[in-house]
Amino acid sequence: MQGRRRFLKHLIASTSLGALNLSGIGLGQNLDSHTDWSPAGLEGEAFWKDVRKQYTFYPNQIYLNSATIGLIPIPVRLAIEKNFASLAQGKYYLPHEPREKVAEFLGADVSEISLTHNTTEGINIIANGLPFRRKDEIIITDHEHVGNAFPWLNRARLSGLRFKVFTPAPTAAETLNRIASLITRRTRIIAVPHITCTTGQILPIRAIASLARSKGIWSFVDGAHGPGSTALDMHDLGCDFYATCGHKWLCAPAGIGMLYIRKEMLDTVEAHMVGAYSGMGWTLNHQEQSMLSLTQSAHRFDYGTQNKALILGLQDAVEFMQTIGLEKIYARGRTLAAYLQEKLLALPHVEMLTPTEKKSRGTIIGFKVKGRSLDYFRKHPQLMHFRVRIVPESNLDSLRISTHLFNTYAELDEFVDFIEKTKP
Ligand SMILES: Cc1ncc(COP(=O)(O)O)c(C=O)c1O
Repeated sequence: MQGRRRFLKHLIASTSLGALNLSGIGLGQNLDSHTDWSPAGLEGEAFWKDVRKQYTFYPNQIYLNSATIGLIPIPVRLAIEKNFASLAQGKYYLPHEPREKVAEFLGADVSEISLTHNTTEGINIIANGLPFRRKDEIIITDHEHVGNAFPWLNRARLSGLRFKVFTPAPTAAETLNRIASLITRRTRIIAVPHITCTTGQILPIRAIASLARSKGIWSFVDGAHGPGSTALDMHDLGCDFYATCGHKWLCAPAGIGMLYIRKEMLDTVEAHMVGAYSGMGWTLNHQEQSMLSLTQSAHRFDYGTQNKALILGLQDAVEFMQTIGLEKIYARGRTLAAYLQEKLLALPHVEMLTPTEKKSRGTIIGFKVKGRSLDYFRKHPQLMHFRVRIVPESNLDSLRISTHLFNTYAELDEFVDFIEKTKP
């Protein structure tokens, strides 16, 4: 930790951060107090206004799409540039520290974390590595992102698996009931999103994992929307596998993912892609061709040379968020989303898709405008002003709004005004 802090201090000292307006958060002044940073007397909206200054925005755009790509804060971006500069000079040694940091952040042991390239890679490692038999059944939702649909569909194609599909219900309890009702003696895995990409619904993962374990079924979580939007503790969640990425709510650079494999499951997942760092040693000559055992940790799944600059950037992103306060960030995103949901619910031409149950909703709001097709919004001149995601998936034809730490109530008010005017 000390080493990284020194690194960041060097970074700040060597750039003209004053011009970038980093004053408020303390990062431009004293990096040694980076992790101990406190609001410095700021509270409420003044605090968040100060946080917002750490981001840059596309001109004349209200960014409401952190669920696709999170904006990278200025200090993290500068750290990444510095990381690349050092890489360019041949400083390629990748320390163990980022992996430890990520494990701690996810509430896992460091031996349970593989650093992948994105969520989809983690999903593929599990979908292709588990020992399925023909006619085994997978329980999955009809609200999947292609990243959690294709790998399972492909494995089903290769190995003759079958699906049992459910629609997430408006409440966590009913969602759990729906899953339970699909379990048969052939069910081998429940493979669901932590938070759906369509409506932002939070699934009751702890209860799902516990149900799965009680029936001898594996539990896999597509956690693309977990880190940075909600508190995570893998051991407390109890799932067997959790695949995720840094480039959404963590506001880290794209190109780095994280895969959690519960330690008891390590040897159940076959490693199909191996190379440097995957094994304990090997011999390949005229007399002997042999391989020692695979690395005794999830590190075996991230083989070969990795991008040091991005991996350190992931650590920088986690530290940046910890500086602000993780619980504060989660609460901020949720409060903004709840505010937006309430305003939209008051519009008679809006059909709300995100549950109103508190524990089932988070930082994403999905809704439809009655009588307006997706094409209407695709062609709308305001679509680029409000950077939102249109959702053709699951035949929803809806809009998806993400609220994160840099967003403001004024932005949401402006967006609601816009939706009000789209009334047919
Ligand atoms: C729920 C969900 N799963 C998986 C993915 C794919 O993530 P990645 O691009 O990190 O592979 C996404 C991306 O938007 C997603 O929303």
